[in-house]
Order: sequence, then structure tokens, then C-alpha cells
Amino acid sequence: MSDAFEVLAPEIGTARLSLRQLSLDDAPAIHAYASDPDVARFTLWPAHPDEDFTRKFLANLTHPTVLSWAIVWRESAEVVGMVFFHSLHRRHGRAELAFNLARRFWKRGIATEAATAVLDFAFRLVELNRVEATCMSDNLGSRRVLEKLGMTHEGVMRQSHRRHDGFHDMDLFSLLRDEHRTRTNPGDGNPPRTSNKERNPR
Ligand SMILES: CC(C)(COP(=O)(O)OP(=O)(O)OC[C@H]1O[C@@H](n2cnc3c(N)ncnc32)[C@H](O)[C@@H]1OP(=O)(O)O)[C@@H](O)C(=O)NCCC(=O)NCCS
Repeated sequence: MSDAFEVLAPEIGTARLSLRQLSLDDAPAIHAYASDPDVARFTLWPAHPDEDFTRKFLANLTHPTVLSWAIVWRESAEVVGMVFFHSLHRRHGRAELAFNLARRFWKRGIATEAATAVLDFAFRLVELNRVEATCMSDNLGSRRVLEKLGMTHEGVMRQSHRRHDGFHDMDLFSLLRDEHRTRTNPGDGNPPRTSNKERNPR
């Protein structure tokens, strides 16, 4: 059983995005893309069959045990996806990150931009020590986003998740608070990094 977050998702602005609390009113926009079989190819949920399904999906994601943001493409004010933390274990300082986007917005750096912003928030204000993320082993897009976030691949959880078509292997990634701090503020209490060239001058 995961814990409830004690904070609400605040509005966060990034270069191209506005992240704001996900709401049941987002059902039409979320349904429009979550009903796409390509979007659901590597997710644990099926392509949404109707808007009622999307409303129930959103009811779970707007519960206090989930910290969720709608990703709004600022230029057009469209909701193009979502990013959220779930499975919070306060005692262990740990939660899981997840995201999904409308297909026509893929490969523009949006998931990376949104997830970077919410990770900053979570490590600063939710007092997490470890953020985990999982993806199906053949979900190359998600895997690449997690690598770009600086997360470490810990291994494969064999057949750890089941969905309508059977059991799936899931890759497990994690980012620790100290790693995030070093990444976002390289001079923070750590010896400066030296390149091989500096260590072995010729
Ligand atoms: C996974 C997903 C969120 C990625 O979002 P995105 O905004 O396209 O990702 P980004 O543009 O930030 O991409 C980051 C990197 O991944 C690469 N990438 C993105 N999609 C890719 C794909 N399908 N195959 C290979 N690489 C991919 C990008 O080229 C970029 O790499 P680069 O900077 O080295 O060029 C999006 O494809 C999606 O919503 N998929 C469906 C839902 C889903 O699978 N969610 C994750 C469940 S765990």
C-alpha cells in the first residue's frame, strides 16, 4: 500500500511547457491520445476504449497517493500528455516516476523536459531519496528518456508485470537524491571532475 503525498502538484513552467495538476476535466484530451493503440503498445493499460474508461483512469491518477501533472504545450495550450509519481513509500523516501504523451508530440524532447522539471521538484520538496522508473524492456523511447534523466539501469525484473497479453519483463531504473544534486549542481560539495586527459597529461 503506498502513502499519500502531502503536497499538491504545483504549477511548473519549463521552456516550452506548462505543467499543472492533472484533473478529471482532462478526460477528453487524455482520451484522444490514450485511445491510440501505438500509445498503449508498451503501457500496462490497454488503449482506452471510451471516455468513461479514461475518467476511471484519471480518478486513480488524481488520488492523493499520486502526484500528477498534465503536460500542456504552451504554444497551443493543448494537453499533450501527463507525468506523475506513484507508489510513494515515505518511510523509504521512494516513489516511482511515469509519463505518457500523445503520439504526434513524440521525439521533440517533451517527456525529458517534463520529467526533468518534476524530478527537480520531487527531490527538493517531497524529500525523496530515490526515484524509480520501470519500462517494458522493448520500450526504447521510454528507456532512452530514463537514460537522459541520468537514471541508472539496475536490471531486468523478469515477467514482473502482467497485462491483457501476458507477463512482461520490466527494466528497472533509479536516480538517487545525491546523484540528482551532483547532476543539477556539479560544484555542490563534490571534488571537481577531471577528464582522462587532465589526469594523464602527455
Ligand atoms: C516514451 C515517451 C513518453 C517518450 O516521449 P518523448 O517526448 O518522445 O521522448 P523525448 O523526445 O524526450 O526523447 C528522449 C530520447 O529518446 C529518443 N526516443 C524517443 N522515442 C523513441 C523511440 N520510440 N525509439 C527510440 N528512441 C526514442 C529520442 O530520440 C531522444 O533521444 P536523443 O535525445 O538521444 O535523440 C513517448 O514515446 C510515449 O508517450 N510513449 C507511449 C507511452 C509510454 O510508453 N510511456 C512510458 C511507459 S513506461
